[in-house]
Amino acid sequence: MVHADASTFAEGITKEQAYQQVLDQAEGLFFEQRNWVCNLSNAASLLWHAYKSLPFPSNQVNWAGFYTLDPLSPPTSPQLILGPFQGKVACQTIAFGRGVCGAAAATGQTQLMRDVDAFPGHIACDEASRSEIVVPIADNVKGGVVVAIIDVDCSVVGGFDEVDRLWLERLAALVGGACDWP
Ligand code: SME
Repeated sequence: MVHADASTFAEGITKEQAYQQVLDQAEGLFFEQRNWVCNLSNAASLLWHAYKSLPFPSNQVNWAGFYTLDPLSPPTSPQLILGPFQGKVACQTIAFGRGVCGAAAATGQTQLMRDVDAFPGHIACDEASRSEIVVPIADNVKGGVVVAIIDVDCSVVGGFDEVDRLWLERLAALVGGACDWP
């Protein structure tokens, strides 16, 4: 039985502990559930509430969610399409190679942007966003192709560090194997 308390994070926990809870709860929620909309929606909720429970700068996160590979885009020019998220409305589609999200999708590498203004192709869906981390999600059933990305934005410069990279990459690995991708 799913319980909304999964999104409740105790006061005073470390970032590592918050991410551990995100992973543990996600793993529980994904049990016998492989629908990607369902699982990414719950993962976005867990991430959002985790950041809001943490001290500065994590509590300044202003967008957390997913883009998925648009199944209608041709393999010769793939694009991402907006998936489940928490935060303000966002760009609907992003071509592979465009912006921070498109760079992660095209390279399969995490993009950690201390200051988005230093990234020439940054797509400003919300000009409040000042730093960003984007982690690709690969489908190992499909030979490791990028099927989605995790995108988290923060309204201050330097919102993310190597701890975020490590744990979001763990989340990406969990999500990648836990969903049937379109
Ligand atoms: N800033 C991103 C676009 C997505 S939104 O921030 C939600 C980028 O440059 O790829």
